Amino acid sequence: LAKRRTAPEILARKGGEPIVSLTAYSAALAPLVDPVVDFILVGDSLGMVEHGMESTLGVSLDLMIAHGRAVVNSTAEALIVVDMPFGSYEASPEDAFRAAARVMAETGCGAVKLEGGAHMAPTIAFLADRGIPVMAHVGLTPQAVNALGGFRSQGHDAAAREKILGDAMAVAGAGAFAVVIEGVVEPLAEEITRTVAIPTIGIGASAACDGQILVLNDMLGLTARVPKFVKRYGAIGEAVSEAVKAYAGEVRGRTFPAAEHTYKPRG
Ligand code: KIV
Ligand code: NA
Repeated sequence: LAKRRTAPEILARKGGEPIVSLTAYSAALAPLVDPVVDFILVGDSLGMVEHGMESTLGVSLDLMIAHGRAVVNSTAEALIVVDMPFGSYEASPEDAFRAAARVMAETGCGAVKLEGGAHMAPTIAFLADRGIPVMAHVGLTPQAVNALGGFRSQGHDAAAREKILGDAMAVAGAGAFAVVIEGVVEPLAEEITRTVAIPTIGIGASAACDGQILVLNDMLGLTARVPKFVKRYGAIGEAVSEAVKAYAGEVRGRTFPAAEHTYKPRG
């Protein structure tokens, strides 16, 4: 059995060969991603792309643990990072530790991710000091969609850029092993990547980052609408539709099941 990649190994990749990551949520698809990427994120985006929610705010800790366990159980090589859902970690470092400890213990993942910058730095330090590797997430933080006024790119004026740079510096100083930068203008991603000593993982944050991540369902073509920053590498949604139509046609035409799909008595 190949040994899994670890959070310290990801940290050590700062400034080196680009770090490759995708989300995955299920035992159906995670094994296909596992041998190719450096880490898999069980993102709370699963609320939207797998559970039909309009935002990530309704995702529960139990739901993240269920999907986290499915991904850990079905993979062997990649580091598995599980998102902390909205409401499970913001109120205090102690609350965050209890929730993150459940995620680590009940899924077997190697790290957690949480959203937020300077205001989450004490929590990141609290977890990191107690043996929980933390990936941070700054810029467009979807759990703050109501405060941000929508899913909008960030860093369009100097004050916003200074705030987000400060967030990235704070989470790096607190001991995060990497930081996701989402939906920010290229010069800001470039400045953060140049400034902080931990790898930056971009999504909608230009090629300047130390690595990239995309939502698997988006890049496979399984979601109807995708943001500007998504490139579709597959048309899996169309492939599924074609297969379902072929099956329906054969059932209606009485050509499936055929003899080779049918049990005959042995005696
Ligand atoms: O939930 C998620 O998929 C994420 C990535 C977009 C970084 O947080
Ligand atoms: Na997320």
